[in-house]
Amino acid sequence: MHTVGIIGINGMVGQKMKAELQKIKKPFEIKTFGRNDQIPPIDIAVLCTDDPISRKLAPEIKGRVKFIVDMSSEFRMAPEVPLVIPEINPHAITTNTPLIASPNCTTTGLVMSLAPLKPFYHFTEVFFCSYQAISGGGKKLLDDFHTPGSYYEKNCVPLIGSLLENGHTREELKGLYESRKILEIPDLKVYCHTVRVGVENCHSLGVTVKASKNFDLEQVKKLWNNFPHLHYSPSVITPKEVSGQETTFICRLRQDVEDKNVIHYFITFDNLLKGAAMNGRQIVELLLERLA
Ligand SMILES: NC(=O)c1ccc[n+]([C@@H]2O[C@H](COP(=O)([O-])OP(=O)(O)OC[C@H]3O[C@@H](n4cnc5c(N)ncnc54)[C@H](OP(=O)(O)O)[C@@H]3O)[C@@H](O)[C@H]2O)c1
Repeated sequence: MHTVGIIGINGMVGQKMKAELQKIKKPFEIKTFGRNDQIPPIDIAVLCTDDPISRKLAPEIKGRVKFIVDMSSEFRMAPEVPLVIPEINPHAITTNTPLIASPNCTTTGLVMSLAPLKPFYHFTEVFFCSYQAISGGGKKLLDDFHTPGSYYEKNCVPLIGSLLENGHTREELKGLYESRKILEIPDLKVYCHTVRVGVENCHSLGVTVKASKNFDLEQVKKLWNNFPHLHYSPSVITPKEVSGQETTFICRLRQDVEDKNVIHYFITFDNLLKGAAMNGRQIVELLLERLA
């Protein structure tokens, strides 16, 4: 029987990953590992760890595992590493890709909305402003949020991840570079602000997309509704309704008042599910099929 190991079982993503893997209907064994555990030979290792830990562990374990699925950002932009959202680019996984990266949560929501439109519209520019939940920052941030007087309580903080010399944050550049890689549009322009808000779970994004021709709003809604795990809601939908759901929801679609080549809309999705553990589980399912 194949074995799938979750490394970082005590974290936000590790815990959700266990619940997600338990949904897979094929026979396989789940093993879990915390900070001080030795990792024995296993078929698939899912690293639910921060960048420095994934950086250290991946080369250490690669000789004793067949595949590594890494949830951190450590290897996402390495040319030999596929960055995979199974609804969008499962073809990126080949027999020569023993390490597969799962994307940044905010990027995942954005590209889920763009991928179904790509065959019909040539995007020239994408802008988004994110409203990112506390759970996206890991369990320490969530514990801090639950402490009275937390800075994040009733607040929005326009700084996520480290600030770079060019004034952008690492989180913002993930939105640019990871979107290009997943959508396979190397010259896509993505302008963004990423903001942490005092919401416990579910990220949201206000998005503006400019294309090289007029958008047909009815076609856009149809394309979204025909795409797996994506739904256009005619009424306003917020993190409160979306938490715990597998679907990425979009609402408030409208055409720009002056430029018909531009649309605006709002996305909400569970960052711990489609933005992390569900996407990881979907990658594991693809890998289990290959191992069968
Ligand atoms: N949260 C999200 O929405 C989200 C979305 C997409 C991607 N990600 C990425 O997923 C990864 C995990 O995020 P998270 O939110 O789950 O963070 P987290 O809650 O801080 O969990 C990280 C876990 O890693 C464990 N750990 C540290 N060193 C370890 C080691 N040597 N061996 C095994 N486990 C070790 C920690 O153990 P202790 O409990 O002992 O400290 C902790 O339980 C990060 O790279 C993050 O960027 C997160």
